Amino acid sequence: MAKVTIDGYSIDVPDGTTILQASRMLAEQGIMPDANVPPAMCYYSKLKTSGGYCRTCIVKVTKGSEKDPRPMPKPVPSCRQTIMDGMEVQNLTAPDLVEARAGVVEFLLINHPLDCPICDQAGECHLQDLGYEHGKAGTRYEFERRTFEMEDIGDKIKLHMNRCILCYRCVKTAEQVTDGRVHGVISRGDHAEISTYIEQAIDNDFSGNVIDVCPVGALTDKTFRFKSRVWFTKPMDAHRNCTKCCGKVALWMSGNEVFRVTARKDKWGEVEEFICNECRFEKKAASDWNIEGPRKIDRHSVISQNHYSELKQLKIDLSKQKQLGEKAHNYNGH
Ligand code: SF4
Ligand code: FES
Repeated sequence: MAKVTIDGYSIDVPDGTTILQASRMLAEQGIMPDANVPPAMCYYSKLKTSGGYCRTCIVKVTKGSEKDPRPMPKPVPSCRQTIMDGMEVQNLTAPDLVEARAGVVEFLLINHPLDCPICDQAGECHLQDLGYEHGKAGTRYEFERRTFEMEDIGDKIKLHMNRCILCYRCVKTAEQVTDGRVHGVISRGDHAEISTYIEQAIDNDFSGNVIDVCPVGALTDKTFRFKSRVWFTKPMDAHRNCTKCCGKVALWMSGNEVFRVTARKDKWGEVEEFICNECRFEKKAASDWNIEGPRKIDRHSVISQNHYSELKQLKIDLSKQKQLGEKAHNYNGH
């Protein structure tokens, strides 16, 4: 076991636990507020080897360990850095770290269009939340943004590459959850893009899960596109006897109409259990399901209760941290 302190909250965790996992444990046990958990755009606890691509989860390690108390020289991705006994970490309590994360968000938004008003992911998009918390209203980027034609990945999934942040989650889902991956990231650097090999469609029973894991609106459900804004629908827990998957889903309903079927997600925005395409795309009648009742959304989303009041408080806290950082910087400069 190893002891770690994050933003002043301590916990003992098994060896090999990452800083991000330890933060989630602290929040799940009610020791630390959820807001102090670093955001994650590419890490996904259900997908092996995920994480390490987006840098939104960076934290400041102010004490490496009991044995070697030196601080780490630069921010580290908390989804990859494992805990060492006695480690001390700062997330929201470090103004310079908050500023560094704002920089990461600015980079993620360089090519990402601000088309939330017409994007199906709006209301559930982690980048939208990050943009709101850390982003700046204007852009300093003067060059032309990368643009791509929209692509159909099979008959039920739309790829809107302009919005992709290259988090690799969909690639890992296709690799680990479906029985054959036919898409991936081609080219490198500024030319990198998600694509199917020779426009080959993803066509197997679990391909729809790539929609659920995508943190932005790059992969959307064609059966739901432009049908409704997510905050106008009512999420309901429902299940059916399915021979291919667990059959436990969230139905997004309006009246008695099922607009969308997704896997159930936890408070970190990760699916609890992956579901099959038959449940997701073909069972769109309320009579196909045993409806259990309204689903409580316990995470960042406009559909969760008091979302904006909580986000507003977080935004106030972040700007206070930033002001403190600026004051310290000016003071040190004199
Ligand atoms: S399409 Fe979505 S899930 Fe796939 S790499 Fe891009 S952002 Fe990530
Ligand atoms: S969540 Fe850690 S680098 Fe993306």
